[in-house]
Amino acid sequence: MSDTNTPAGTIERANLDWSNLTFGYTQTDANIRYTFRDGRWDEGVLTSDETLPIHIAATCLHYGQECFEGVKVFETKDGDVVVFRMDENAKRMDFTARKILMQPPPHAMFMEAVERVVNANRRFVPPYGTGASLYVRPLLIGSGAEVGVKPADEYMLVVFVTPVGPYFKTGFKPVKMIVEEAVDRAAPLGVGDVKVGGNYAASLRAGTAAREKGYADVVYLDAKEHKYIDESGPANFFAITKDGQYVTPKSDTILPSITNKSLVTLADEMGLRPERRPVDIEEIFSFAEAGCCGTAAVITPIGSIKYRDREVVYCPDGEPGPISTSLYKKLTAIQLGEAPDTHGWLHVISQ
Ligand code: PLP
Ligand code: COI
Repeated sequence: MSDTNTPAGTIERANLDWSNLTFGYTQTDANIRYTFRDGRWDEGVLTSDETLPIHIAATCLHYGQECFEGVKVFETKDGDVVVFRMDENAKRMDFTARKILMQPPPHAMFMEAVERVVNANRRFVPPYGTGASLYVRPLLIGSGAEVGVKPADEYMLVVFVTPVGPYFKTGFKPVKMIVEEAVDRAAPLGVGDVKVGGNYAASLRAGTAAREKGYADVVYLDAKEHKYIDESGPANFFAITKDGQYVTPKSDTILPSITNKSLVTLADEMGLRPERRPVDIEEIFSFAEAGCCGTAAVITPIGSIKYRDREVVYCPDGEPGPISTSLYKKLTAIQLGEAPDTHGWLHVISQ
């Protein structure tokens, strides 16, 4: 498949119910794959094949040499197709890859891959105003065969896209969370600070049990002391104190969230004195607001948190708190080109 099959000029949009999309997989026109072999990356190839031919001894299958990223693409108010802070995702994939001895994709190649795959799927970029976005999922796998526990000598960078709605199905509405103490997400000095699939496998049991009990997800504590908040399964944690300060956990076992980093910048501009520091779980009982943040989760307000036999309720009327709402509006206004992009967070993907 060539890169030039994108409709020129006006795009005939795919026939989807854009405003009611969930955070799920929808088939699109193409994905892109780059292979690292004999010490070099190839030029990458677009394909409509949704499957991967993979060696039965590939290190990603046996020894978890796998990592991924999540990037969002939006159509702005002015009709541009923009990607949010993908340079940060490129850097984070580099950091992750090095931590588990995978071949890091050059940043320029990572960003080229995103642009090429978005351009090949422009008709799947959700229209402005629908609340949906195009989720881009870069995936790096050890594809070379090994039987001993050692790094592969071949890798694949695969990037696919899928149009999505909100990660938590209620969207910008408060969700119920529960603190999990029977399962640790990530160990000190382990891989909690990088985006490897094993961290998500480790969170499946607690996440599924929480949902069965009617909670949206889990808040994990640090694995060493079970005293400080780490993060949620798919997102970072933040809170607003009663005197209006933005507080978010400082921990070596959480993913450095690009959304959280952006919110810290916005919170600073809003005079919320953002602070990253260890957050004792007992503090949840004195916060005014709390939320999850991430590419998929955007800002998801936390309505209540159950901790052992106690529960704190932040949103008794079922509505998000005022500061979380302002942060959400500021962030999404930038992403949608409704507010000036003063930090250079958007990159226009031209056809
Ligand atoms: N924490 C975890 C475990 C995640 O999976 C994600 C999602 O990427 C985040 C935090 C949020 O990171 P970001 O804002 O970069 O998407
Ligand atoms: C993202 O927010 O991009 C993520 O990767 C989280 C994932 C669990 C959906």
